[in-house]
Amino acid sequence: MAIGACIQNMLLCAQELGIGSCWLGEILNKKEKVRKLLNIDKNYELMAVVSIGYPLKKPNKGKRKRLKTLILDPEENVKKS
Ligand SMILES: Cc1cc2nc3c(=O)[nH]c(=O)nc-3n(C[C@H](O)[C@H](O)[C@H](O)COP(=O)(O)O)c2cc1C
Repeated sequence: MAIGACIQNMLLCAQELGIGSCWLGEILNKKEKVRKLLNIDKNYELMAVVSIGYPLKKPNKGKRKRLKTLILDPEENVKKS
C-alpha cells in the first residue's frame, strides 16, 4: 500500500508539472526482462514501472465514476436502517 500511495503522489506531481504518466503494472509479468532492459540491480524489487513524458496532445477525459458514488456516508446508512 505504501508503494501505491508513493506512486499515486508521483503521478499527481507529474500532472501538476504538465508531465504525462502511466502506471504500468502488467509489465511485471516480465520482471526479469524489465530488470535487464533497465539495468536494475537485484537488490531492488520491482513493484511497478511508471512511464513519463510530455504529451503531444491533451488526453481525452477518462470514464470515471462520480466521486460521490464512491464515498460511503455513515449518516446516510444509519438513516436507512
Ligand atoms: C495498479 C495499476 C496498474 C496499472 N497497470 C497498467 C498497465 O499495465 N498498462 C496500462 O496501460 N495502464 C495501466 N494502468 C493505468 C490505468 O489503466 C489508467 O489509470 C487508466 O487507463 C485510467 O486512466 P485515467 O485515470 O487517466 O482515465 C494501471 C493503473 C493502476 C492503478
